[in-house]
Amino acid sequence: MPNPRPRAFSGIQPTADSLHLGNYLGALVNWVAFQDTFECVYCVVDLHSLTVGPDPAAIRDRTRRTAAQMLAAGIDPSRSILFVQSHVPEHAELTWLLNCVTGFGEASRMTQFKDKSLRQGSEGTTVGLFDYPVLMAADILLYDAAAVPVGEDQRQHLELSRDLATRLNARYGEGTAIVPEPYIVRATAKIQDLQDPTSKMSKSGSPGGILELMDSPKVLAKRIKSAVTDGDTEIRFDPGTKPGVSNLLTIYSALTGRGIDTIVEDYRGKMYGHLKADLADVVVEVFTPLREKTQSYLEDPAWLDAILAEGAARAREIAAEVYGRIAGRFGLLPPGGAGRGSSADG
Ligand code: TYM
Repeated sequence: MPNPRPRAFSGIQPTADSLHLGNYLGALVNWVAFQDTFECVYCVVDLHSLTVGPDPAAIRDRTRRTAAQMLAAGIDPSRSILFVQSHVPEHAELTWLLNCVTGFGEASRMTQFKDKSLRQGSEGTTVGLFDYPVLMAADILLYDAAAVPVGEDQRQHLELSRDLATRLNARYGEGTAIVPEPYIVRATAKIQDLQDPTSKMSKSGSPGGILELMDSPKVLAKRIKSAVTDGDTEIRFDPGTKPGVSNLLTIYSALTGRGIDTIVEDYRGKMYGHLKADLADVVVEVFTPLREKTQSYLEDPAWLDAILAEGAARAREIAAEVYGRIAGRFGLLPPGGAGRGSSADG
């Protein structure tokens, strides 16, 4: 029976022991909400994380940890597909096809690649890093995803996915690929680093600038209390001149669902310290159940692996069909004339 709900896809890299508040507010919260309206496919993108050359034991461990945190945050495997990217080989296969329609200059213009490769030098930069956005486009196109909920930092990558989908349709006929729409919630699209509030909160940022889902209440409170604020003492929302306090207000508002204006009104005449103490309580209240659930899920790796195996089986059904359609349009002969290549002439 055809599924009446449009499909959404998104992914997260298993590059740290814990997800951080930026991942949570910029992505996970929306992913959970998307489950009401979309048929959701969520992926732990382990192939992407190989571009930073992680230790094999760490990547294995972090793949499970990331999945456990997604489940703890409310990704529901009975409603959504949750799987590990490398369990569905069509991701790598479609990447090759897309590589062959992606311009070298086009891929060279990706700002994340430019920044990282500049830091690492050409000898330290891998072809995998260069190809990262194409693998991401393959992730999305492989599920005919109509919507992709992400944070602001993924906007340019999403633009490439859209360009590639449009190109496939122009070259190989309408219906070869669905052109995905990015879904970026402005208020939480870019949570900033607590120590450097002009940069996004990220795994590679300053250690004190990040709030991790797995942090203890003590660490969370300490980080918030030592967050960089601004020259004057007024609690006001103005990201241009007061990035530190504005970031704290954004986080407060997103975690409580209260409007920023109301929060500013409540703290009129009060000190930054008051705001920080209350925000620490709010963050601890949200993160504690997530941390506890994650820990309990991690105690049962067989259960976790079974969820991921079931997710991969469901993902593969979709991926095999879509890959077969796209590969057929490229002119690749279907294996044996049946199975996944059967729609090749469609
Ligand atoms: P990753 O693993 O870096 O981050 C996962 C999600 O978290 C969002 N995010 C943020 N949002 C707001 N403020 C922040 N400070 C912040 N930091 C991270 C990211 O925007 C992302 O949505 N390339 C992707 C993974 C990926 C993917 C995909 C995403 C691979 N294939 C296909 C969508 C569709 C990445 O590195 O995310």
